[in-house]
Amino acid sequence: MLFLAKASGQKPFWIRKVSEIRTACAGGMVALCGIFGAVLRTGDAAPVVHRALERLEYRGYDSVGIATISKGGLEVKKDRGSIRDVDLRLHLDEMDGSVGVGHTRWATHGMPSLENAHPHLSCKGDVAVVHNGIIENFLELKRELEGRNHLFRSRTDTEVISHLVEEYLADGEDFAESVRLAARRLEGSFAIAAISTARPGSIVCVKKESPLVIGLGSSSNYCASDVSAFLPLTRKALFLEEEDLAVLESDQTQLINFRTGQELEREVVDITWSPEDATRSGYKHFMLKEIHEQPPAIRNVLRIQPIYYDLMASKLEKAEQVFLLACGTSYHSCLAASYLFTRLAKIRTQPVIASEFIEQYGHTIDKRSVVLAVSQSGETADTLEAVRFAKSAEASVLGITNVMGSTLTRLSEVYIGQNSGPEIGVAATKTFTSQVSVLTRLALVLAEKRRTISEDEMTKLKDGLLGIPAAMEEVLSVGPQVRELARKYRDRSSFCFLARGINVTTALEARLKLLELSYIPSLAYPAGESKHGFIAVVEPRFPVIFVAPRDEPYHNTVGNVMEMKARNASTIGVIESGDEKLKELLDDFIEIPVRVIDLLTPVIYVIPLQLFAYWMAVERGCDPDRPRNLAKSVTVE
Ligand code: AGP
Repeated sequence: MLFLAKASGQKPFWIRKVSEIRTACAGGMVALCGIFGAVLRTGDAAPVVHRALERLEYRGYDSVGIATISKGGLEVKKDRGSIRDVDLRLHLDEMDGSVGVGHTRWATHGMPSLENAHPHLSCKGDVAVVHNGIIENFLELKRELEGRNHLFRSRTDTEVISHLVEEYLADGEDFAESVRLAARRLEGSFAIAAISTARPGSIVCVKKESPLVIGLGSSSNYCASDVSAFLPLTRKALFLEEEDLAVLESDQTQLINFRTGQELEREVVDITWSPEDATRSGYKHFMLKEIHEQPPAIRNVLRIQPIYYDLMASKLEKAEQVFLLACGTSYHSCLAASYLFTRLAKIRTQPVIASEFIEQYGHTIDKRSVVLAVSQSGETADTLEAVRFAKSAEASVLGITNVMGSTLTRLSEVYIGQNSGPEIGVAATKTFTSQVSVLTRLALVLAEKRRTISEDEMTKLKDGLLGIPAAMEEVLSVGPQVRELARKYRDRSSFCFLARGINVTTALEARLKLLELSYIPSLAYPAGESKHGFIAVVEPRFPVIFVAPRDEPYHNTVGNVMEMKARNASTIGVIESGDEKLKELLDDFIEIPVRVIDLLTPVIYVIPLQLFAYWMAVERGCDPDRPRNLAKSVTVE
């Protein structure tokens, strides 16, 4: 083991570029929980951990917990609820010990509850673990550990870690080595901070995919999900990298690679951000941060356990009629799903705007009906009212949501948590592409069950879906061009989005983003429908934005571009890279630098349009995170 840094006499600090630190901060991961640890030379850690968790609460806020080590052993306080509510009940500052770890949760596995709140303990209660991320192989590890008489108290994936560490301690390994050996058994994403009575003066933390950063104090050291947690305590940070394991003590930090055991050195960075900037990982607004969180958010969708899809698919398969119901952006996900279910699984579904469900279909709902409700918040009143109506008619209710423990999860027979992490910006971005990706996987599971597409096509689609996060990373590089485009068109008084096929969804979503963020009255149509009305309002310089991948209906879309050009509209296109025909025809265009399978294009082609709405709002002096008259979750009918 190598001593990396001592509080005094450390190496001069280098100012790293903001983009580098942004990436290190986000760690290419969606904020799914907040973890923090403190090792103090003197004083109690609990109040320090408590304050830091408050600064991390934007990362998850459905339950909280702290564990400290004092002469008496491990002390734990945890419960379901916000930090403030839990503190009122449990008095989180009143815990002894100068070493402590804490966690504020965004549930992915196991409903928000006292049992599922972190920290999680070993059987003997001598190891406490907090974790951010998703352990993909937790089910098989749990079975193995139960086979060795370990008793599990929660339904979380995280708890396997404390029992694994306990196993290695029982084999005579020291604490740091036990955590290292446990980490080598885990698959998925994890930032872990662990403490144990086996080594009371230290915290052992591990990073793989999920973000984890060390804060170096003069007589204390910290670990946290992001720098905002310890910025008021120190500005000296050490960003852990993939497979790093750090052993923190009050005056020193040791670093190794947990897979190889090799000793490591990492550069210490001087953070110049304000705490507010830090919570946005250096982005100006949460919306822009969340647009950039889409690649890891989709990686999380791809980690959802197959069993949930199988359960949901078996319900859908038996249905006589399937309704996909939601509001706003979530409704657009349902619309995309209707194309996917028909095309892949040969299942006809009815996408419905929730507030019209009862009026439009109420009289046809019965026990042979299945309602799949989609809601980021899981609390939208119109969606819940429609769901309750369907239940009263004995229909089966399924749910897709981003909030475990929300009302929709309680009303659903089967639900899938989309794992996008908290979305702070009112405008839905990462939750839209996550929902569409969950629905795409569900359509593929149904197609596999019903053998409705060839193995070759199935493989292509599965590989295509696995490739979406990387494709998104490439598409995010068009940001500066989109900003220029928004600046050029910022004075236009209206826009219209046109598209064909599954990208009608993308056009509708782009329109919703633009009008809810920049307040510009805008339209969106299936391009074929534009000749039946919309074209009447087209006049010179009227901006018409086309979503135009080179897919099945491409040639018809080119025809629509010609129609608009004939009326001197300003024609703008989100097109495939190298599409010389449309580049020649259009006044402006954004080229998508990757080729994806037609049915997967909405989650890629929507990104430049999310950015267009964002930059248009900024150009027009609107607040992209808090648009007027809107709420993140509309809980009134
Ligand atoms: C989208 O940007 C809006 N925030 C809004 O339309 C939203 O999609 C709608 O209110 C539905 O919310 P839900 O997904 O939480 O049910």
